[in-house]
Amino acid sequence: MAKYEFTKKLETGNTIIDKEHRELLDAVNNLMDACSKGEGRTSMDATIKFLNNYVEKHFTHEEQLQQKSNYPGITAHKAFHQQYTTKLKEITSGISLSGPTIVELGKLNGHISVLISHISTEDKKLAAFLSQA
Ligand SMILES: [Fe+2]
Repeated sequence: MAKYEFTKKLETGNTIIDKEHRELLDAVNNLMDACSKGEGRTSMDATIKFLNNYVEKHFTHEEQLQQKSNYPGITAHKAFHQQYTTKLKEITSGISLSGPTIVELGKLNGHISVLISHISTEDKKLAAFLSQA
């Protein structure tokens, strides 16, 4: 299965944010691996839990950075994070319940694409603002 790569294009220039984005994609890849290897529910569920927790932790960090710097886009950015985590939980519990079917994995891949475009637009804007703050 193709892996998500943290390419130069995804770099925001903020060391903390970039490090966490890299780890986030690693967590996605670990879940994909667990699914494709048919590692069984216990191992798959552990990677699902890790991914959901990591996303929440990372979003909280970004929001703290926005709060501290009075980032003007905080409301919309926070709303995106909120919707994103809710939908990620829905999709991953679908994987957990129905198994890693093509349909479920398709939903996950679609949702990861949304994150990748958020990183390359909104998170870059945030990092640019933080570098001037
Ligand atoms: Fe973000």
